[in-house]
Amino acid sequence: MKNILFIVGSLREGSFNHQLAQNAEKALEGKANVSYLDWENVPMFSQDLETPVLPEVQSVRDAVAAADAIWIFSPVYNFSIPGSVKNLLDWLSRAVDLSDTTGVSAINEKVTTVSLVANGGHEQAAEIYRNLLPFIRTTFVDEITTSKVNDSAWADGKFVATEEVLEQLTKQAEAVLAAIN
Ligand SMILES: Cc1cc2nc3c(=O)[nH]c(=O)nc-3n(C[C@H](O)[C@H](O)[C@H](O)COP(=O)(O)O)c2cc1C
Repeated sequence: MKNILFIVGSLREGSFNHQLAQNAEKALEGKANVSYLDWENVPMFSQDLETPVLPEVQSVRDAVAAADAIWIFSPVYNFSIPGSVKNLLDWLSRAVDLSDTTGVSAINEKVTTVSLVANGGHEQAAEIYRNLLPFIRTTFVDEITTSKVNDSAWADGKFVATEEVLEQLTKQAEAVLAAIN
């Protein structure tokens, strides 16, 4: 089975995007191996930190290199993508070997896709991912699932996806599987 790496773009305990990722995991059950990227210790990017490669950076590169596809579940921050996710993608966009003139990075040629849980700004954030992910030389599957946060989730912490969202998530999962199989 192929390996799909989930990146939950919110580091918050109880994240609604993490809960959407769990729905996607169900949609992929028996069809792909799913793992979650541990990325919270990746430092703020600085070219001064690139060599020698930090263990926190090596570990995200290794996880990405081992994956056939990367699925990002992202909040919308100020009608944009979270700076923390952009920082992670900046790291992943960098050449594994800085002396290599072709500049091959761990994420190059990977299939990528994105889903978004937020209340507003989905389109603006989606457009940023749509431009950014191909720019860093990934094969972007543009079947973006967007979801609002259900009203009760703010009180009880439980994100509930609508039938429509679950259907789109299944469609997105199928598109990712088709791109890697
Ligand atoms: C810095 C910041 C900016 C935010 N900006 C937006 C926004 O533009 N649109 C929106 O719908 N929600 C916005 N929110 C609210 C988040 O969508 C909400 O916190 C959501 O729960 C984040 O996803 P998570 O549950 O996966 O952490 C913002 C939250 C933070 C912390």
